[in-house]
Amino acid sequence: MKDVEGKVAFITGGASGMGLGMARAFARAGMKVMIGDIQAEPAQKAVDELKAQGLDAACVQVDVSNLESVQAAADKTIDTFGKVHVISNNAGVAVGGYSETCNMRNWNWVVDVNLWGVVYGLQAFVPRILEQDEGGHVISTASMAGMVGLRGAGPYNATKFAVVGMMETFAADHRKHNIDASVLCPGIVATNIGDSGRNRPDEYGGVVKASEKDRTAEMLAQGLDPDIVGDLVLEAMLDDQFYIFTDPGLKNLIETRCERIIAGYDWAASCKSLKGAKQAGGLPG
Ligand SMILES: NC(=O)c1ccc[n+]([C@@H]2O[C@H](COP(=O)([O-])OP(=O)(O)OC[C@H]3O[C@@H](n4cnc5c(N)ncnc54)[C@H](O)[C@@H]3O)[C@@H](O)[C@H]2O)c1
Repeated sequence: MKDVEGKVAFITGGASGMGLGMARAFARAGMKVMIGDIQAEPAQKAVDELKAQGLDAACVQVDVSNLESVQAAADKTIDTFGKVHVISNNAGVAVGGYSETCNMRNWNWVVDVNLWGVVYGLQAFVPRILEQDEGGHVISTASMAGMVGLRGAGPYNATKFAVVGMMETFAADHRKHNIDASVLCPGIVATNIGDSGRNRPDEYGGVVKASEKDRTAEMLAQGLDPDIVGDLVLEAMLDDQFYIFTDPGLKNLIETRCERIIAGYDWAASCKSLKGAKQAGGLPG
């Protein structure tokens, strides 16, 4: 989207970290911003901050793991601003652990927020953007953990790879519909993600305090300023950039993965079992 002034953006997880960074950048660019977050108080604080600068913002409490809640947030966005053009499916939680031993309540929590949350954002908002027929842009936050497998983060990795795959398909599906798409794949950003347990509902085990000795917390504190990520996402939207990486220094991780995948193909091309076998010669879609 080249012209964002006066357009309406809905951002999940907009009360903290990168979502707040996007809210600030989008509002400064002249957009009307609806901040959606499970935490009502920080969301209101963000709105107060933006309004004090003469910017246009409102908020709605939303739980992205619940479709009805996301649909209600879409209704509120339209009721408040009349339209919606940009959605940022950004809310997410971090869960560490191995796929085979991670407790199932944590597994369900990370899938419900990080994966279903993105699906529900698409379900609740995209039909309205299409119906409006004024163009739009959908950004979903994945991670470098959606590009390469990170040790000890199987469930989180699974959700972020799913978001990358979903957005690659979404971009191809909507190329002709004047809806652009991006997938944000941050490296380390100095946000509150290490304290995700502050938002864990009772059904998944309830609130849990972040450990002060956690090495991830130390690393996060050294990370990129989330306001810079907000500016970067705005720039990507204006440039119609699909993959948004925040740390160009991590390119070697992607290169190594691609090399391993190509090596897998080369092995298949020379293996005995496939010699002379009939192939479809393409894929559907
Ligand atoms: N910080 C990093 O280093 C990093 C790296 C890669 C990807 N990410 C991803 O970035 C996104 C944003 O996280 P962040 O780092 O800014 O963390 P953050 O904790 O600062 O912000 C996340 C926001 O999401 C909200 N949220 C949590 N559960 C929710 C729910 N069920 N419904 C609605 N809102 C909910 C939180 O209240 C919070 O405001 C996440 O998807 C995360 O996985 C973060």
